[in-house]
Amino acid sequence: MELIVWTSAFSVGISKMDQQHLEIVRLINTLATTSEISVRSELISETLTNLTNYANEHFREEERLLEEHGYPELAAQKADHRAYRMKVVAFCQETMDGEENVPAGLLDFLRDWWVDHILHSDMEYRGFLEARGVT
Ligand SMILES: [Fe+2]
Repeated sequence: MELIVWTSAFSVGISKMDQQHLEIVRLINTLATTSEISVRSELISETLTNLTNYANEHFREEERLLEEHGYPELAAQKADHRAYRMKVVAFCQETMDGEENVPAGLLDFLRDWWVDHILHSDMEYRGFLEARGVT
């Protein structure tokens, strides 16, 4: 998988959210690299579990922040997050049992979903929060 290269174009203007997005990108890149060198499957499932837990925590914080400021597109954000969680769970149940490599389809999904979500859905709240002085 082509690694995600973080640039300032990914910044949503809220340092806490940027830090969390950066960590998620780091975990996805780690997963892609680890998977390519085909190490122990426990390490891969551990990283995948960390990513899932971290993403869930991030979704909760992001939704709380948007709710606090009355963001009008909160329902769409929540729906996006929910769809992601369901997709990842389905992927893991179907494919990860005893696998030593993360399936390329899962890695591509993770990369494409996060890049698209940050650059489009999340970027939509940037101006809204900026106008309210949230940084
Ligand atoms: Fe989001």
